[in-house]
Amino acid sequence: MKQENIIKKLTPNDAYNLLIKDIIEETNDLNKDENRWIKHSLYVGIGARRIAKKLNLDENLAEVLGYIHDIGRKIDHFNHPIEGYHYMLNLGYKYYANICLTHSFIDNDITLTAGGGPKRKERYEYINSFLQKNPPTIYDNIIQLCDLFCLETGFTTIENRLLDITLRKGVFDNSFLHYQKTIELKEKIESLMNCNLYDLFKEIKEEDLNNINNVHDKLLELIGKKKIMIKK
Ligand SMILES: [Fe+2]
Repeated sequence: MKQENIIKKLTPNDAYNLLIKDIIEETNDLNKDENRWIKHSLYVGIGARRIAKKLNLDENLAEVLGYIHDIGRKIDHFNHPIEGYHYMLNLGYKYYANICLTHSFIDNDITLTAGGGPKRKERYEYINSFLQKNPPTIYDNIIQLCDLFCLETGFTTIENRLLDITLRKGVFDNSFLHYQKTIELKEKIESLMNCNLYDLFKEIKEEDLNNINNVHDKLLELIGKKKIMIKK
């Protein structure tokens, strides 16, 4: 591989074009149910840029990572982290590829994911080995957080999103710990930003904000039954 391919850079516009390439050919394609993940990715990019700006980080990099974090869904939804990683590497975008594997795991810890985590042994081992070699960056953390409050329809509360995931995918041994660590990550980023996350995202519906305590209680009622801590 030529050196220039190894360090190929993406602007947010490049990343957007790469995201929609072969998927969105006309405006109406964006409204198709199977392309909801594209809209979610756009909101993650917008959200990540806003947080990066507040933290005086590289806003363009954050936006790019948000756009491409789920890009493996072009190939296979179920295996999208590994597919996305290889997709980016094959295009020479090594600098950005890691986010495809890190975005689902809080603090790059394989046990801290929603939906129970990778089931197949070889997939688990591949991702776990990668995560152990790649400590989390602040950009990993930003995308991990954005992934948990950006829907395809816009921004919501983390509590809403986690309740939705739990109702759809069920409760797993790691659900309680994942919830705790997600809230810790939110608090860490809020402390770095010196403001409440939801104050930065005024688009979140008033009713979602007013409903946080109810959703929180419902979530804990569901996952509290499985408070098994996974040994690290
Ligand atoms: Fe995502």
